[in-house]
Amino acid sequence: MFRLTSRVEPDFLWAMLYEAVFWRDLGEEERPPLAELREQRWFARYVDGWGRAGDTALVALDRNNEGVGAAWYRTFAPDDAGFGFIDADIPEISIGVYGEFRGRGVGSLLLGSLIVRARAHDLPALSLSVAAENPARRLYERLGFVDVADGDGSITMRLDLQ
Ligand SMILES: CC(C)(COP(=O)(O)OP(=O)(O)OC[C@H]1O[C@@H](n2cnc3c(N)ncnc32)[C@H](O)[C@@H]1OP(=O)(O)O)[C@@H](O)C(=O)NCCC(=O)NCCS
Repeated sequence: MFRLTSRVEPDFLWAMLYEAVFWRDLGEEERPPLAELREQRWFARYVDGWGRAGDTALVALDRNNEGVGAAWYRTFAPDDAGFGFIDADIPEISIGVYGEFRGRGVGSLLLGSLIVRARAHDLPALSLSVAAENPARRLYERLGFVDVADGDGSITMRLDLQ
């Protein structure tokens, strides 16, 4: 019912990054507009200049070929580290699925397939950052991620690949 493609438009990654950051349903007024967030490095570093060496993304499409979710990873320099940074050679994952498509296996499909890619590229590990109370943690644990650090209500998780 859903299929994956590695042909990605950065605009769709921006939209999914927005879903990932605002994983909690806050109501629209409390969310700053995407255009404003794109000016902020803590947000923009996950997609800005997409297409760097090592950048890897998968998009899930519905039967009308519309994007419903995406998962991607990229590495960061220590002086431009993301929230889930562990090391410069361990890419950090971002993932988001549109609200109406959650809980139907899209996230598992995306993340499982992204992990297969990471293994195929001989990466040592993957990392991510997740809010302590985000139910997404269960998905990450099912796929083998373990907690390696926590602070300020968010947890860094790591999946060893070697
Ligand atoms: C996390 C997310 C990508 C998972 O994708 P999905 O298609 O919903 O996942 P699946 O249907 O394959 O797997 C279900 C698991 O996803 C998580 N999940 C399901 N609905 C969710 C929701 N509304 N919010 C967050 N996580 C959810 C749970 O871990 C769930 O496991 P469970 O069945 O044991 O409760 C998706 O729910 C989402 O975009 N959530 C909001 C954004 C977010 O939290 N991104 C990650 C930030 S670290």
